[in-house]
Amino acid sequence: MKARMKDGSTGDIKAVWFENGKVRMIDQRKLPLDLVIVEFDDYRDVAEAIKNMTTRGAPCIGASAAYAMCLAGLGGKDLDEAAAFIKAARPTAYDLFYATDWMYSRLKNGDDPVKAADEYADMTVAKCRAIGEYGGALIKDGMRLMTHCNAGALATVDVGTALAPMRNAHDAGRKFFVYASETRPRLQGMQLTAWELNQEGIDHAIIPDGASAYYMSQGVDMIIVGADRIAANGDFANKIGTFDKAICAKRFGIPFYVAAPVSTFDFSTETGKDIVIEQRSETEVTEVNGMRIAPIGSKALNPAFDVTPAELVTGFITEKGIFKPSEISEMRE
Ligand code: MRU
Repeated sequence: MKARMKDGSTGDIKAVWFENGKVRMIDQRKLPLDLVIVEFDDYRDVAEAIKNMTTRGAPCIGASAAYAMCLAGLGGKDLDEAAAFIKAARPTAYDLFYATDWMYSRLKNGDDPVKAADEYADMTVAKCRAIGEYGGALIKDGMRLMTHCNAGALATVDVGTALAPMRNAHDAGRKFFVYASETRPRLQGMQLTAWELNQEGIDHAIIPDGASAYYMSQGVDMIIVGADRIAANGDFANKIGTFDKAICAKRFGIPFYVAAPVSTFDFSTETGKDIVIEQRSETEVTEVNGMRIAPIGSKALNPAFDVTPAELVTGFITEKGIFKPSEISEMRE
């Protein structure tokens, strides 16, 4: 992804990579104010970085898990223990489990840890490029799009899932506008998606989450979001607030697309009811910059994700093409 560096120059950067024996990643909690790179040489610290959301977004969580397993392999650690520890970082994003198992088999097979993890990360980016091509064709000149949370390069190593079609259409010279909802409580839409769209020069505006229905009523042509886990029937978990958007999209007849690699599809989970939803700390809701702004004595509830039923999805944009919910079993590997 394009990023303005500290010295004012523009460079290319990935969300996570391996260099000189260390896993390096953008500290996504510091954006958009600071582009800070952190590095780790212990798999437990990478797992902690997934947990505290230094790195985040399902495919990027997967790549980070692959690099954590790489560190475990290089350090001669017990791979079963490492895999269990890494998988415990967050419960919902299926890529975390998929990538950890993928690396586990490669390491058990005696493969080079760095080459295998790099291959996993490169594969993720290649899938996003293909998602960009399939989804990019849906974006026409003059369209008004809406997205939620951050399903961009930061969430996927590079390129993105929901933002990949936008990058593709922008590179092809098409002009369109993006509503990026702020995404309470951690503000990934405002702080990360808007940062990426800015770096790319894509016309956009940040809107409060609660303004989505209003803008849909004024005219939105298409909604594209990412996913953390997609069940076999097409129900999918994504950042809290996605479900509201899908319901409103149905009300206004707006096509609602989910962009995700096949590694986000969990065919062992039959329906959305079986997806575990992460509950995060109350303070993410009650505090701003470490200062409590809610009344003392009020509780807060903070589910990180919600589940949108398949019937509200127009199509899944994947690296294998665009599938209706009724067609997704064709994707099984
Ligand atoms: O809690 P986060 O920031 O990891 O949640 C991210 C999302 O919900 C994204 O929309 C999803 O992971 C898709 S990322 C390409």
